[in-house]
Amino acid sequence: PTPWLVVPAAGCGRRMGADRPKQYLTLGGRTVLAHTLSRLHAAFPEARLCLCLDAEDDHFDPAWVPFSDWRRVDGGAERVDSVVNALEAIVAEGADEQALVLVHDVARPCVDVSDLARLFAVVSDDPVGGLLAAPVADTMKRDDGAGQVASTEDRAGLWHALTPQGFRLGVLRRALARAHADGVVVTDEASAVEALGLSPRLVPGRRDNLKITHPEDLALAGQILAAQAS
Ligand code: C5P
Repeated sequence: PTPWLVVPAAGCGRRMGADRPKQYLTLGGRTVLAHTLSRLHAAFPEARLCLCLDAEDDHFDPAWVPFSDWRRVDGGAERVDSVVNALEAIVAEGADEQALVLVHDVARPCVDVSDLARLFAVVSDDPVGGLLAAPVADTMKRDDGAGQVASTEDRAGLWHALTPQGFRLGVLRRALARAHADGVVVTDEASAVEALGLSPRLVPGRRDNLKITHPEDLALAGQILAAQAS
């Protein structure tokens, strides 16, 4: 069996402050988008891909897509809207409710191929699904809104939510529809699934699966990719 892949890539990456969306910046001569899709393809060569792109995107080149079965889906206003559009495209292809869908941010090109395989094995065996995650290493502070510490959070039991996040198509559609109806802001799939009262599995993944967000992240991602290749 092979999953459906959803790659939201319709963001404009405002926090990067670059002249183009961050998925089109290059690392070692290759776009972030091409790196990310190539990692996913190495783990799931037969997967069916939905790539969410801004309707007015004029940087994208289909030559960067290594999958033979893929479709372009219009992005929405927020990440979650892009994912919802992709899920509707998957339904339109006749996938059933039990189909597994892995959602992976285009901005995470360093995801490890064996982490991808392990996540898929775990979620294939789980009625709900799960996500790659890494235990928090730093001590966590909560601010008081004025630049001072209000409290120290207990980091024991805290995890960074990474991607991919993998769920059954039916569960994910119900979760995102409910979040939308309730006006809840969801920044990942798992939080919407949790709001249904379900418990996604935490699948420990490598900490270097960073999300390129700020300018300094790009060089770091380049170093991680180079180190992983050597
Ligand atoms: O901006 P941020 O890094 O949180 O975006 C996470 C992912 O969601 C990125 O891969 C981005 O391209 C995608 N996204 C999207 N549609 C939007 C906003 C973000 O597909 N409207």
